[in-house]
Amino acid sequence: MQKSLQQQIHKWKKTHNAIILAHNYQNPEIQDIADFVGDSLDLSLKATKTDAKIIVFCGVDFMAESAKILNPEKTVILPDKTANCPMAEMVDAESLGWLKKEHPDAEVVAYINTTADVKALADICCTSANGVKIVKSRTAKKIIFVPDRNLGLYIQKQVPEKEMILWPGVCRTHHDIKKDDVLLLKQKHPDAEFLAHPECQPEIIKLADYVFSTNGMVDHVKTSPKKEFIIGTEKGLCYRLEKENPGKKFYPIPSAVCPNMKKITLEKVLKSIETLEPKIQLSEAIMQKARVPLQRMIDMR
Ligand code: 13P
Ligand code: SF4
Repeated sequence: MQKSLQQQIHKWKKTHNAIILAHNYQNPEIQDIADFVGDSLDLSLKATKTDAKIIVFCGVDFMAESAKILNPEKTVILPDKTANCPMAEMVDAESLGWLKKEHPDAEVVAYINTTADVKALADICCTSANGVKIVKSRTAKKIIFVPDRNLGLYIQKQVPEKEMILWPGVCRTHHDIKKDDVLLLKQKHPDAEFLAHPECQPEIIKLADYVFSTNGMVDHVKTSPKKEFIIGTEKGLCYRLEKENPGKKFYPIPSAVCPNMKKITLEKVLKSIETLEPKIQLSEAIMQKARVPLQRMIDMR
């Protein structure tokens, strides 16, 4: 009898001593075969703790690159090499270099959603889970924050003592969440709490009961006495929320889809775990430089 895709993936996972990490936005069938599902911070940490020789990263490029930078001796595979984060491409190393020259007294905080070249120029990285804590912890008064302007604006509000220079990047999936869509859902579900991701625009953040990273939402929902939640982030998170909280109801924003996250399929995972391609390949020199700000972030735990 023909083995299912899941059975074949499982077999190759054992043969190659591989681990499958999946971001919270992945398709349900990918979340179901993963060893760990989490947000950017959680997955970076998991990548540093595994004994597996091969990491199959079901997410987008900057996440798989971060896993490689933190584990240069491991093979890191991204099952679809075109699965990128368009926001991470919005800042390039050359332009950031110029901005640094204009502000020699500033420290650079790079969102983990950046290329390795950009991380190499940063003092420290952050994710949406720890951005406020990381910016607060810096000694410089002036902070260059790249590339997400919305996350930067959110952090600036929480840390008014810093002077933040914000790069004009955005995540279209979050930036395009419309106020009217949120208001409609609030009207339809008056008892629901509204949880927003800090990549949303300030007018959406203002409507939120809480602002969290994707894992922040998972943790909050688990302990909240509330039964209904409007989820202000990429829709894929609702699958995990429903699976882990059977008695609770989740209302996604219909338009909030990240097409790149959805490029990973079971067929691509099987092919990549069998052939160990496509591998993340970065130059040693860039990895060495990019590891410093990533490791500084991890050491802040
Ligand atoms: P999280 O770290 O909150 O999972 O966010 C990652 C991301 O890409 C948000 O769009
Ligand atoms: Fe990038 Fe936005 Fe997709 Fe997250 S949701 S991976 S920030 S494009």
